[in-house]
Amino acid sequence: MKKFNLKRVAFIILLFSLNSNLLAKQLDIFAHIHPHTNVEQLIQSKKKSNMTYKQIMVQFGIAYAMVQEGVINQDKNIIKIGLDKIQNHPSSKEHPWKIVKTRDMEAFKESLLYYDNLLHKSATDIQKSLKTNDWTTINKNIFKLSNHCINCHLTWKNNLD
Ligand code: HEC
Repeated sequence: MKKFNLKRVAFIILLFSLNSNLLAKQLDIFAHIHPHTNVEQLIQSKKKSNMTYKQIMVQFGIAYAMVQEGVINQDKNIIKIGLDKIQNHPSSKEHPWKIVKTRDMEAFKESLLYYDNLLHKSATDIQKSLKTNDWTTINKNIFKLSNHCINCHLTWKNNLD
């Protein structure tokens, strides 16, 4: 019989952890309901409004302020109203990528898809955590949501046409 081989055991553990990581990532993707892969399709899935992209962002700001007010006051209803505004925000009257330089349009489209997915996922995570009274987790999930807003701002807000 083969001798106990530490390297082999380490290798198997490594393989297993890599696989479970991959699996977790895949489950994560599947857990999100209909992530969009096409930006035109993403925009068509939203209710069209007469607002500019900037005005939509102002609405996001108001929605996020409600979420924050709700967590400080431990008022789940205010959080839910704010989240609902984020989950069901309309599309702007013009294509959002019109606000960036022509050479940045494709990259901005990628950002729209990427962050739309993350925002909805985070909002869904907060909605799930609201079923508990675990305010620390609720707050952590709200922090994650705000990180997506900030990351997109860091890339784009001062980089418009
Ligand atoms: C896809 C990238 C992206 C994401 C994600 C994003 N923003 Fe923005 N946001 C922008 C851009 C670009 C501007 C600048 C728009 C302009 O000046 O025309 C902006 C501007 C803003 C403004 C300033 C509006 C003003 O009056 O100048 C607020 C407030 C804001 N965003 C809130 C949020 C919040 C809250 C979230 C997350 C829930 C969020 N944004 C997510 C891209 C993004």
